[in-house]
Amino acid sequence: MKHLILFFAAYSIGATLLVSSAQRPTNPTVQTAPTINGYQPTWWKEAVVYQIYPRSFQDTNGDGIGDLNGITEHLDYLKKLGVNVIWLSPHYDSPNADNGYDIRDYRKVMREFGTMEDFDRMLAAIKARKMRLIVDLVVNHSSDEHHWFAESRSSKTSPYRDYYIWRDGRPNPADPAHPLPPNNYPSYFSGSAWQWDETTKQFYLHLFAVKQPDLNWENKKVRDEVYGLMKFWLDKGVDGFRMDVIPLISKQPGLPDLTPEQAHDPSKLWANGPRRDEFLQEMNREVLSKYDAMTVGEAIGITLDEESALVNAKRHELDMIFNFDAIRVNRGPLYSEQAWQLQTMKTIYDNHAKVLGKDDWDTVFLSNHDNPRLVSNFGDTSTEEYRQRSAKLLETMILTLRGTAFLYQGDELGMTNFPFKKLSDFNDIEVMNAYKEWVVGGKVSEAEFISRCARFGRDNSRTPMQWSEKANGGFTTAEAKPWLAVNPNYRTINAAEEVRDADSIYNYVRRLIALRAANKSFVYGDYTDLAPDDPHVFAYTRRLEQPGKSAERFLVVLNWGEQASEFKLPEGVKAGKLVLGNVKGADEAGASTLHLSGWEARIYSY
Ligand code: NOJ
Ligand code: CA
Repeated sequence: MKHLILFFAAYSIGATLLVSSAQRPTNPTVQTAPTINGYQPTWWKEAVVYQIYPRSFQDTNGDGIGDLNGITEHLDYLKKLGVNVIWLSPHYDSPNADNGYDIRDYRKVMREFGTMEDFDRMLAAIKARKMRLIVDLVVNHSSDEHHWFAESRSSKTSPYRDYYIWRDGRPNPADPAHPLPPNNYPSYFSGSAWQWDETTKQFYLHLFAVKQPDLNWENKKVRDEVYGLMKFWLDKGVDGFRMDVIPLISKQPGLPDLTPEQAHDPSKLWANGPRRDEFLQEMNREVLSKYDAMTVGEAIGITLDEESALVNAKRHELDMIFNFDAIRVNRGPLYSEQAWQLQTMKTIYDNHAKVLGKDDWDTVFLSNHDNPRLVSNFGDTSTEEYRQRSAKLLETMILTLRGTAFLYQGDELGMTNFPFKKLSDFNDIEVMNAYKEWVVGGKVSEAEFISRCARFGRDNSRTPMQWSEKANGGFTTAEAKPWLAVNPNYRTINAAEEVRDADSIYNYVRRLIALRAANKSFVYGDYTDLAPDDPHVFAYTRRLEQPGKSAERFLVVLNWGEQASEFKLPEGVKAGKLVLGNVKGADEAGASTLHLSGWEARIYSY
């Protein structure tokens, strides 16, 4: 289970690999607009992205599994919320060892999710609403049920043999018939990253599950296959990709053993294979540069110092990446909770603002399908009032910090973690494999394991959307058994109720997104932390001064925690007009000292 934690704990300084910058061919569809505050404006910098986990969004045929028609059904809900890009977690044909992150056919829709016609209809309906769609690109590995792998494992001379990473084992003196794995790589999902295959008596590499063999990116044929499937979806009209564990595609030459130091966090080594940037530049040259597409890489193993190498516009690789510094601030080893301070979070965002320049771009997110529910993870669910306030405060932060904002389905309702009680309540392969390694392996007690997985397990965010107070939260029919249980709090936390209630989290997020859309300072403006050392109040300004236009200046004040706080604004900053807040009656327009109640958030113009 150590490995499971290491998977997500990728922080430290490594050498940035600089390779010569490829020339980006001129993209006929993109016109160069004048810069704003030194930034080249683009639609994806201004976007608010909403992640959909299709399995859990809306079931329309009563099989207990969400489907593409269910997404089409709810597009008006998303349009009303104001998000303009949808990121769809994998929708491809898959045996679902890892819920679609194990792809059997990259050009087919998962049977449970519907048909290609359903996909085309969904895409057309998204476009008709002037929204965009990015899809998940999972090409570090495929499913072992992909025909490439079936061929590859069939014989050493198969033309597909080199599509994957095969190695002889190491001699095993104790049992010569069963060689030892080629090296000491652990899998992110527990155990060794090597699987013995009896047919050809070699091991194959799988950094994730046994059913997720790693593709061999050294082979140009593999890269061409990937570029081909990317074009297939781009030509259909999708607007880009979220790229799964993309820095891992280049492996270390010769695959030497991890040193004890590297074994602490192998992701740092794995993310920095020597050909990473070359592969991404090739992908950019051969595919991305020809389309007006957005890319966001899941940058497992990449530190902030290394970030610009991947996202700097002049390097022609990706547009932005997910860096996990903020979202993992409270996470210790083995799914344990680590004490953290607000100042640490502020330092992370401040460093991002300092390190990333005008040709770089950032993302802001505090939840996704691999992390707990936003409000349970960082907010306060001890009372209904605090759940609502803290969810609004967190959304205020995500939607006013620097970078493209990513929201995860259900967080706009303040959905919470699930009351997991026993192993059979979980579905996630990460939890099941970890159970064998930790509990059966005697590292932690069963009770401790369940309580840690209940706190941080990935299934928390994967429980079905809560649409209404109807049976199963309206996710599926009353008779159906949802693939993962609906959180029993759906009777009070659901979309129907929140859309109706003007003061709900949903309607607050809707107002926030509208405010962001109307004021470019939240996108391109400067960021200044007003009180880096304050342990309770996170206060910052976003300012945009453009020639010939009046300055746009906003002050965001977030009181983290239940305690009331008094916050003295620094010299020269006075609260102006209150444009949005999460506590009724609080205003203090014009004040130089603010009096904030528990979990209060305010946005002033000033
Ligand atoms: C990262 C994805 O977000 C996660 O859900 C998945 O299990 C791994 N990559 C493997 O694809
Ligand atoms: Ca269904």
